[in-house]
Amino acid sequence: MYKELIAKAIEAREKAYVPYSNFLVGAAVKTKEGKIFTGCNIESASFTPTICAERTALSKAISEGHKEIEAIAVVGSFEEYTFPCGVCRQFIVEFGKDIKIIVAKNTDEYKIYQISDLLPHSFGPEDIDNV
Ligand code: THU
Repeated sequence: MYKELIAKAIEAREKAYVPYSNFLVGAAVKTKEGKIFTGCNIESASFTPTICAERTALSKAISEGHKEIEAIAVVGSFEEYTFPCGVCRQFIVEFGKDIKIIVAKNTDEYKIYQISDLLPHSFGPEDIDNV
């Protein structure tokens, strides 16, 4: 069901800029209307500005006006599942507790979670009165 999305994440993974960790990650965001936005991790010599693949892809979707997110596929290592880091989980939950997270080793081996399972009891937009 999410094979195409995973394939796009694998493709994006090749674009990773990772001179420090050499750990390539690709992500692909699928909007509820079926559009796909991809991203890779981009590292920085001063480390802190490093951005993960998930946030790169999601930022592309949001900045192009697509806030209705259905799913995000993530591919790091081909041997083990790579889960979104804590910062990415918080970034993702902003756009919906029901967003599906597909962690994949390849197009045949993957697991599907819901972001609310990966970040339970989250703090989100609903917790800020004036939103
Ligand atoms: N990274 C991601 O892009 N996504 C994840 O889900 C985990 C970590 C990146 C950040 C950094 O460039 C490298 O992987 C090693 O932490």
